[in-house]
Amino acid sequence: MNDCDKLDVDIIGENLDTQVVGSDVLIFQSTASTNDIAWEHSTNPDNNGLCVFAENQTAGRGRRGNKWLSASGQSLLCSVLFTAPHLTAEGVTLGSAVATALAISETASLQAKIKWPNDIIVNGKKIAGILVESRRTHNSLTYVIGIGINCHQNETFFDDEDLAMPATSIDNETQQFIDRNSLATQLITKLDHWLQVASNDIDSVVNQWKILSTQLLGHVTLEFNQKRFSGNCIGIDPAKGLILQMEDGQEKIFNATQTTIVKADTIK
Ligand code: BTN
Repeated sequence: MNDCDKLDVDIIGENLDTQVVGSDVLIFQSTASTNDIAWEHSTNPDNNGLCVFAENQTAGRGRRGNKWLSASGQSLLCSVLFTAPHLTAEGVTLGSAVATALAISETASLQAKIKWPNDIIVNGKKIAGILVESRRTHNSLTYVIGIGINCHQNETFFDDEDLAMPATSIDNETQQFIDRNSLATQLITKLDHWLQVASNDIDSVVNQWKILSTQLLGHVTLEFNQKRFSGNCIGIDPAKGLILQMEDGQEKIFNATQTTIVKADTIK
């Protein structure tokens, strides 16, 4: 592990001025999954906004039961505990994707885009992934937003992985060394802002999401509830999902939480 940007609570908190996200910051040297640690803190409402980071995960998980692999100290691995009475999973997904893309773009001077629903892409390659988990507690929904950002991996790191799409890291794209503490501060700041916006004015998040999202056009194959569907993508409704025109002419909407794109003619 490279020690020069070792995650540090004091450095991350130095320039932090947020309302909810970042209410507390925990850093682990190694844990199974930062999402699990966040859930362990979810019974106490005072922990709303807690951010859990780890240098290493031994059982990091991705969407749809996939593993999320990362060598120690190479990524920013973060989970945020967030309770919002009026915010849907779609709202959390969109707000988190916008926040993560903007945090990467601003800290690393890159143009990060969002591939529906919430993969973060730079130059056509995946640089970050987001896993939103939810549980019903009392009268409201509690979310854990797990974010993995590839930071220091070199080009060859992803070669042996069986990946659904090509992957990259921030250093790989910039040819510079990203400071993960600065990225963490920026990520917390953006999440705090965009999750508050999502709670009060989802249309503003949708507009920003549209500006940042890649275009998905033409014939698309996707997996929904373990079944494959193919059709022509005729649009994305950020709040409802991906709209496919099926071969029989019918339109079908696939929601973000249960869908993964397997193949697409055009992703720009
Ligand atoms: C994806 O499949 O694209 C989502 C990947 C999410 C990975 C992050 S890393 C931090 C947090 N802890 C986990 O176990 N998963 C998420």
